[in-house]
Order: sequence, then C-alpha cells, then structure tokens
Amino acid sequence: MANVLTALQPSGVLHIGNYFGAIEPMVQLQETNTNRLFIVDYHAITVPQDPAELRKNILFATAIYLAAGIDPKKTLLFQQSRVSQHTELAWVLNCTTHMGELERMTQFKDKSRGKGEAVTVGLFDYPVLMAADILLYDTHVVPVGEDQKQHLELARDVAERFNNRFGETFVVPEVKIREQGARIMGLDNPENKMSKSAASEKNYISLMDDEATVLKKCKSAVTDSGTTIAYDEARKGLANLLTIYSLVTGKEIKEIEKAYEGKGYGDFKTELAGHVSAFLKPIQAKATALLNDETHLIKILDEGATKAQELAEKKMQRVRSVIGVQL
Ligand code: ADP
Ligand code: TRP
Repeated sequence: MANVLTALQPSGVLHIGNYFGAIEPMVQLQETNTNRLFIVDYHAITVPQDPAELRKNILFATAIYLAAGIDPKKTLLFQQSRVSQHTELAWVLNCTTHMGELERMTQFKDKSRGKGEAVTVGLFDYPVLMAADILLYDTHVVPVGEDQKQHLELARDVAERFNNRFGETFVVPEVKIREQGARIMGLDNPENKMSKSAASEKNYISLMDDEATVLKKCKSAVTDSGTTIAYDEARKGLANLLTIYSLVTGKEIKEIEKAYEGKGYGDFKTELAGHVSAFLKPIQAKATALLNDETHLIKILDEGATKAQELAEKKMQRVRSVIGVQL
C-alpha cells in the first residue's frame, strides 16, 4: 500500500480541470492506498485573501471533495493550518533550500511578474511549504496536474539533500501526472490551461455552473474552421473538448469521433454541454446539502486534523532529533 498525498487551494471556484487533474484521481486511489488530502489555506494566503471569503472557501472545498466521493474513513481529509508541523518543517527546510532553486520556479516567476519589490516572501517560499506538506507523511506518490511538476521535483531534491546531510529521514516522493486530462485547456484559449484566475469566466467550467451556463460556455468555446470532429493535436480547441467529452462520459475518443461522423461543431458542443451538466448534477446536489450543515463539515475537518497532527508530530520529532535541537 502506497502513501498517496495531494492538496488543493481553497478557492471559491473549482473547475473541471481541478476535478479531473486533482480530485477524481484521489477518489480512485483511496480504495487501494493510504490517502491524504488537505486544503492548503496557508498556501492560499501567499496572495491577499479576504478573511470571510477564505473561511467560506475552506468549507466549500471540503464539501466538494466529499461530494466528489472522498470518504473521510478512507482518506485523511484535513485543513493544512490546523497541523502546525507543516509550517514548522517548512522553516527547517528553508534552512537547507537554496535561493537559486526557488528563483527558478516558473510559477513564482509568473505570479510575481510586474509586482517588483512588493512580492511577498510567502509567495517565494511557497514551494518549500509544499515540500514540507509532502515530506511530513512519508509520501510515496503525489498525483498532480502537470503545472505542479517542478514543485514536486524541488520537493524530491530537498528530501534527498536533507537525507544526505542528516541521514535517512524522508521518503523521496514520486510524481504522478495523470495521462489523459492531466491538462484541461481553457475554453476561450486552448493554448493555456483552464484556470480560475483566467481573465474571463468563459475560460472554465466551474463544478457549480448551472445547465444554462455550461451550455453557453461550451457553445462559445474556441475551435477552428475545420468541419470534422476528429482528434488532432494541432486542432487544440477541439482536442480539448474531445478530452472533456471523453472524461465526463467515460467513452473512448475513437467512439466519440465515430458518433459525430457527418456532424459539425454545433451538435457536438450542445451535446457536450448536456453530458457535462449531467456529470455535474449529482456532485452539485451533494455539495449543496453538505454546505447547509457547517457543523458536520467542521467536525470532519476536526477529526482529520487530530489524526494528521499525530502523524506529523512523529516525523517532526525525528527531524528535531537529527538536526540536533531535540535535547
Ligand atoms: P487554478 O489554475 O485554477 O488556480 P490550481 O493552481 O489551484 O488551479 O490547481 C489545483 C490543482 O488542480 C492542482 O493539482 C493542479 O495541477 C490541478 N489543475 C489546475 N488546473 C488544471 C487543469 N486545467 N487541468 C488539469 N489539472 C489542473
Ligand atoms: N501547489 C499546489 C497547487 O497549487 C497545492 C499543494 C500544496 C500541493 N501542497 C501540496 C499539491 C502538496 C500536492 C502536494 O495545486
């Protein structure tokens, strides 16, 4: 049994890219592995957050995970800030991580562009907190979308360096990039990944979008001037829509191509929207019911925090001991 771990930021919007890139793989993996899944609220505050919004978003993310099929009996589900060993280990790792390593992180370069001197230390240090998240739990596998690969490689380097210097302490984690759907592209711009921080809401399908919105977004998705529904890497918009179609219906792309022989974009987009909505409906109903009972949600997070603290403290005791601060 492998220790599998991943985490998501608490955002008010979760889209189908997050779902297929991060949430659904964890639902599958919880059956045969030791799963840990948490909401990285301390990563979220590396950019300004409205406190009331943040609270709401933590509860929303929890509700979505549960609605998507995460079972707290099978998956350790918790809130990062409740387990202070994450920030404690991040500090220790800060002292073995090089500035140059963090300066190379493309996410930092993207997010700090144009901010000049006002960019926060937290944003720069983000990958070290992420390494701590992973290394605390003897994690073997970290399933993430492709955009997180570089952060994962850093976590591996940090673990190896620490082990070389202080003796075997951390498991060096493997990255697991999901093959199909690892990178769902923006509907309005298939050159870039679907993202909630895109300029237009037409970029993404939120897990909470209603039928009319899904239809509107699918219809306005950017495609090319071709006339056939056929998968071709060069036809990026269509390739992305076919991937989404396949993910929400469970059908092979070949099968979908066949079903649309002789049909055009109009039919394809309308029917795609129908399939996406049908896929989202049960998730939305469950999430809404869960959000109506905050006490229950908070109880699940409390129980998760208690279990996570126990595991994390054990690892921290070892870390404190090998670096020499444990008397
Ligand atoms: P966003 O870009 O919308 O802000 P995040 O950066 O918060 O998304 O990503 C949360 C998780 O979802 C990560 O594991 C990331 O790899 C995955 N993810 C985000 N966008 C996509 C996407 N378009 N396709 C596949 N996975 C994605
Ligand atoms: N940085 C990740 C993201 O934005 C979230 C994250 C934080 C994470 N800690 C993690 C993912 C540990 C996997 C493992 O998507």
